Amino acid sequence: MTSTTPFWLAGRQATSGEDTLDVTSPWDGRHVGTVAVPTEAQVEEAVAAAYAVRAEFAATPAHQRATALDHVSRRLAERAEEIARLISAENGKPLKWARGEAGRAVSVFRFAAEEARRFNGGEAQRLDTDAGGAGRLALTRRFPKGVVLGIAPFNFPLNLCAHKVAPALAVGTPIILKPAPATPLSALLLGELLAETDLPAGAWSVLPVPNDRMPALVQDDRLPVISFTGSDKVGYAIMDSVPRKHCTLELGGNGAAVVLADFASDADLDHAATRIATFSNYQGGQSCISVQRVIADAAVYERLVPRVVAAVEAQVTGDPADDSTDVGPLVSEEAARRVESWVDEAVQAGARLLTGGKRDGSSYAPTVLADVPEDVTLAREEVFGPVLTVRSVTGESAAFEAVNESAYGLQAGVFTHDLQAAFRAHRALEVGGVIIGDVPSYRADQMPYGGVKQSGVGREGVRFAMEDYTYERVMVLTGLAL
Ligand code: SIN
Repeated sequence: MTSTTPFWLAGRQATSGEDTLDVTSPWDGRHVGTVAVPTEAQVEEAVAAAYAVRAEFAATPAHQRATALDHVSRRLAERAEEIARLISAENGKPLKWARGEAGRAVSVFRFAAEEARRFNGGEAQRLDTDAGGAGRLALTRRFPKGVVLGIAPFNFPLNLCAHKVAPALAVGTPIILKPAPATPLSALLLGELLAETDLPAGAWSVLPVPNDRMPALVQDDRLPVISFTGSDKVGYAIMDSVPRKHCTLELGGNGAAVVLADFASDADLDHAATRIATFSNYQGGQSCISVQRVIADAAVYERLVPRVVAAVEAQVTGDPADDSTDVGPLVSEEAARRVESWVDEAVQAGARLLTGGKRDGSSYAPTVLADVPEDVTLAREEVFGPVLTVRSVTGESAAFEAVNESAYGLQAGVFTHDLQAAFRAHRALEVGGVIIGDVPSYRADQMPYGGVKQSGVGREGVRFAMEDYTYERVMVLTGLAL
């Protein structure tokens, strides 16, 4: 008899005795855990507690919030291997990538502790620059917009929860976290560490609410901030359903890696090919910034492509629990079948398969395609699988235009040594982040992260999420001897 993992209701463990959710391994279908699902009354209790504590929590001293965040960071580090194994088991991502994710969450909570200590020092602005403002000073500080509803995806079951929870706690705003149905266990384990702190009851809850019950929570006026990571379809449906709420949407992308003509030595091309192959396949390509499109200058294309294909073929596929595995399964067989159908559609329309193109259950082989017609699904949408397309263009401007042809705009990578080209890329590319000398998949958790166009609105990255969760409130002091 397996035990049921409780959820976290206003900082304490709870079960409903009613509904449960089974978590299975995407690799072999084995049972990983059973999770208690809160009743509607329990969800109401968590929301009411968060709403009730918001003023008290906002007024807690920064050092208290920072100490709690530091504690979570330290405990994540102490339990990192156990957590990595849990992430890998429920999500199917290879252990090496799960270890990386656990390490990143350690940093996210540490960054949040650091930011909590320095955030909101207040900015003073003299107003006597106009006669009417003589003797007046404006003091601006930031205050929480209100309780955050964080909706997390399956692809980083711990770290994308950390990106929602840690900044909320850092600014003293309560958060209701809803993990993805496929991967709730890592978020619930995070709850264990939060429960070890003295954060006020109600400051946080982790509730595995089924997706079909989410519209009611989204509509709840006591939750004025929604931070959602997931598909553009769901993200924009949420935003359209609550146009007066503050929504941060971290949505999809079909990340491009540009290789410019100056990145041409054998060492350059080997490096670019290795990075591209690794980051089109990491966690089965299930990252919004994995490499989906390679856009290479014709001057280097013929020498780059065989290297990319060889590096893709060198990716070790298999059991995510093996230390040597680079590429594991997708989150479900359904996801792998969708990827298969997009690749088949492209091949039928004339694309050339350079390697891969095979599905085995929930696993899809690392795949490279050339000559992909621009009207097929694979060329337009986010594949969210281990699939890469390669394309030759002539000149830098054509390369940048090709990046911008996408409806998405999350991050782009540009392999170049030319500093001027780097600045031109930064100006020209319609994305939230331009990574020079590397793939679009590079993300440092303290930097601003988010997209433009169909990739979403708002920014995460600890300090930027803290800004997003708060607003400026000005206080004018009068009659001062300035
Ligand atoms: C994402 O898939 O949007 C997150 C990528 C990351 O945090 O590395």
